[in-house]
Amino acid sequence: MTRILTGIQPSGGFHLGNYFGAMRPLIEMQDRGQVFAILVDLHALTSVRDPEALRDYTRRAAIDFLACGIDPTRSVFFRQSDVPEHAELMWVLSTVTPMGLLERCHAYKDKIARGHGATHALFAYPVLMASDILLYDADIVPVGKDQKQHLEVVRDIVIKINEAYGEVLKLPEPEIAEHVATIPGLDGQKMSKSYGNTIELFMEEKKLRKRVMSIVTDSTPLETPKDPDGSTIIELYRLVASPADVQRMVDDFRAGGIGYGEFKQRLFEAIRDYFAPFRERREELLRDPDSVDRILAEGAGQARDIATNTFGRVRRAVGLS
Ligand code: ADP
Ligand code: TRP
Repeated sequence: MTRILTGIQPSGGFHLGNYFGAMRPLIEMQDRGQVFAILVDLHALTSVRDPEALRDYTRRAAIDFLACGIDPTRSVFFRQSDVPEHAELMWVLSTVTPMGLLERCHAYKDKIARGHGATHALFAYPVLMASDILLYDADIVPVGKDQKQHLEVVRDIVIKINEAYGEVLKLPEPEIAEHVATIPGLDGQKMSKSYGNTIELFMEEKKLRKRVMSIVTDSTPLETPKDPDGSTIIELYRLVASPADVQRMVDDFRAGGIGYGEFKQRLFEAIRDYFAPFRERREELLRDPDSVDRILAEGAGQARDIATNTFGRVRRAVGLS
């Protein structure tokens, strides 16, 4: 069966951009092959220095993914740090990774430019990604456009190691989500934690309404017709409402006589209703933390079986055993 693998950084709550841009596509891929969904807490450690926060983010990310539809009976869902081979293979890969390859990475340079301390782990981040992917002989790696360069680095690393030691590791195919639309945030820019313009998935209802009400709109008076093209309200509404309801909103925009406040109210209700079943499942998981731990432990067990096998292959190839 095709192996589809991706890493999820547990670095806080998820927002609509994460859901429609990454979570839902991954959940849908469970019908196409075997999904490996890794909570990459070792990666998160490059930016989260607070141990309680890291534990909490990882737990919450697990709960949110399960609530939204990652199915542990079909997929391998686990915590990266539960499988020590990730860090071990990374070391071996490091020995064939040219410095220049990592020095060119935009993500590293951007983070340093934004004031992030220049640590070795941040620099070596793509090598750990390579390890995530290669341990499971992944066929397809679905990622956002921002990860395209990292995936190229991963492919270069595979080529290097196979040149040095024969065909030890499998060359993965990236699947760059070019077609996935960028979800706009409250201010119309890309929704992103770093812009503070997000609508989180599981906010309390009152807060959610307040958030939706704070979407930036122009000052067209209530009675005047409004332009539906490029409206953040309509773009978000399309994600959560039926086509008929979207059409009704578009028509109402054009007709005039209705203010942005009412459109936002409709959007709020549609978001609330769309996520209601997930919210319910999430509440259940929150009440039963042991079940989450069990799911992650089982996932780690399955992952570990594969990882020890692959790493054994690498050990023999390079002369570590
Ligand atoms: P943030 O920008 O909030 O820090 P991340 O970079 O952690 O989000 O994104 C995690 C995943 O969610 C990535 O796969 C990314 O492509 C996707 N994603 C994030 N924001 C959006 C958005 N506004 N539209 C579409 N996809 C998004
Ligand atoms: N670096 C990816 C991100 O920030 C997360 C990630 C870690 C990943 N390991 C991976 C993605 C392996 C795909 C495959 O989004």
